[in-house]
Amino acid sequence: MKEFVVKGGTPLHGEAAIAGAKNAALGLLAASIMADEDVIVRNIPDVSDVNTLLEAIADTGAKVKRLERHEVLMNGSSIRSYIVNNRYIRKMRAGYYMLGALLGKYHYAEVALPGGCTIGSRPIDQHLKGFEALGARTSIRNSMVLVEAEDLHGANIYFDTVTVGATINVMMAAVYAKGRTVLENAAKEPHVVDVANFLNSMGARIKGAGTDVIRIDGVARLHGTDYSVIPDQIEAGTFMAAAAATRGDILVKNVIPKHLECISQKLREIGCEVQEYDDAVRVIANRPLRSAKIKTLPYPGFPTDMQPQIAVVLATAAGTSTVNETIFENRFKYVDELNRMGTHISVEGNIAIITGVNELRGAQLVAPDLRAGAALVIAALAADGESVVEDINYILRGYEDFVEKLQLLGGKIGIADSEEEARKFFLKAGMV
Ligand code: UD1
Repeated sequence: MKEFVVKGGTPLHGEAAIAGAKNAALGLLAASIMADEDVIVRNIPDVSDVNTLLEAIADTGAKVKRLERHEVLMNGSSIRSYIVNNRYIRKMRAGYYMLGALLGKYHYAEVALPGGCTIGSRPIDQHLKGFEALGARTSIRNSMVLVEAEDLHGANIYFDTVTVGATINVMMAAVYAKGRTVLENAAKEPHVVDVANFLNSMGARIKGAGTDVIRIDGVARLHGTDYSVIPDQIEAGTFMAAAAATRGDILVKNVIPKHLECISQKLREIGCEVQEYDDAVRVIANRPLRSAKIKTLPYPGFPTDMQPQIAVVLATAAGTSTVNETIFENRFKYVDELNRMGTHISVEGNIAIITGVNELRGAQLVAPDLRAGAALVIAALAADGESVVEDINYILRGYEDFVEKLQLLGGKIGIADSEEEARKFFLKAGMV
């Protein structure tokens, strides 16, 4: 089993180039099969979640041709099967986007019940409610979600909770529904806007994405397009947190600073200097850090996907911080791991109370999910001594070239396949 091996204690310095947004790419790659013409998607991140979805899309018969590492050509005209049950797709969340895409185009879809990180119960009732309002029948049988319709018609849909997944999924299906659909209490995340922009570039008529009311006027067909995915807000935020936690100085490049404001502001409050450029942000942490209160909220609030990483920053900030997780109920599984590194964190309900300590020490760690896994790597880089992070497949689902990018910043991190390899790494890391 592969693991990350880390010799911590070196502040990270330099530049990190951010890949395309995983969560945007997943939505718009699913949406790309809704046209029967060539669709080129650029700036897709080379991460396992995206590659798994591409395999599952190819299994339906759609054309999926990788033009380059970050570019793919898709064409939905050759689709033969409306069933998505690739054995890998069961392990990820975003397979559910095939429901909206196939339902809209073919009025039928069967997709394996979504998996993904076990950070909460993660129901899909709002997706199904939206599809039903558009005229579909929905059912769940043998771990498959089935949606079908004779006809799809526009509808007024009020989401009971702000959900990224249901907003994107129902928006996709509504593109081919007759008449106008209005989504209220819609999610405003940058990737919702990106999927809407992508669909509009294919001829869809979507207005209001990025606000909490999205209006979709149905169209009869979509055409091909050539589109580039937005930068990954969470990957960028992770490197920003890495600069803060290791007391380093990182220029995070290829980003949209506006998408990072919720993170930049908190880092400033904690005591970092954050400089914004047109398409980059620089985080400098050369002053003592202080405590803060964090509450995760839908965009433009502080993202739940950055909650573990900011907790690592606060773990060594002076004073007592609180981190209130309001989106997912089971997102503090990393706390026990961190406490073995010397942090003082207790969890009461959905709030983590963090009393800052002076330093972290290396430990044997297990990544509990994707973002918490990345947070543990940051903690290991900030800690004194040697750490091993197991279950790195979680992390590889969402971070392209994570190790290489951290190495470029001076991080002493590698991947080891065996104890022998880990030992060699630590020997070498100790000498340089
Ligand atoms: C997406 C992201 C994930 C991120 C999350 C919140 C992808 C592939 N994943 O997940 O990284 O953490 O947004 O920004 O893009 N809910 C319901 N019923 C539903 C759907 C959701 O009650 O039908 C609840 C969820 O349990 C959660 C909240 O709504 O409490 C937000 O979930 P949602 O925004 O849908 O998250 P995902 O789309 O699963």
